[in-house]
Amino acid sequence: MVRSVLRSALIIGFALGVNYATAAHAQNNNCHLQGGSLVCEAKPSSGTPAVTGAAGTPLRTAQTAPKGTLKNPYAAQEASHDQKLAEEGQKIFAGYGCPGCHGGGGGGGMCPPITNGIWIYGDSDDTLFRLVALGSQDLQAQGFTRQAIENIVAPMPSFGSIIKSDDDLWKIITWVKIQAYENTHK
Ligand code: HEC
Repeated sequence: MVRSVLRSALIIGFALGVNYATAAHAQNNNCHLQGGSLVCEAKPSSGTPAVTGAAGTPLRTAQTAPKGTLKNPYAAQEASHDQKLAEEGQKIFAGYGCPGCHGGGGGGGMCPPITNGIWIYGDSDDTLFRLVALGSQDLQAQGFTRQAIENIVAPMPSFGSIIKSDDDLWKIITWVKIQAYENTHK
């Protein structure tokens, strides 16, 4: 069972051209096919993350800040956004390999779109920061629950020790929010 889950995670990883260093992550997930989609849900876990983030990383921030306290310093004024900031955020997004799963414009690929205005765990900046930093499994372990279903349901890997600063992650989130606003208001 664990082995076949791992194998399908590897197949997805290779198909996406992503170095699936997160295969170990997938071992803890419970995947099955549902209506043609691969659906993976985290097993109820102890709630204790396997790895503690290094000081200064978004992973550490997401592990230590109490729920609801993470504030985006660029809090996107989505309607009157800063185009330069949006472009910078998109560049950072691309630099960390996010388009491999979500597409260069965030419109989705083998993984769900992130700019269509449907927010899987909600749209608060606090939640989005944690989702990217912790990955969906550890996000759920912190008590966050799925609120919407996209066309593809699979685990989001943890990027909190790959993204080098909170600032980089906030800029990415700002771009995602601006792009979602643009996509849903035009
Ligand atoms: C290996 C594929 C993969 C990579 C790489 C990846 N993601 Fe994801 N991401 C996913 C999946 C799968 C989900 C859906 C998680 C779920 O349903 O629990 C997701 C969900 C999200 C969401 C929530 C979207 C919504 O509609 O609520 C955001 C935001 C996001 N990812 C941002 C990023 C960013 C930023 C990066 C790069 C740092 C990134 N992702 C890299 C697979 C990936």
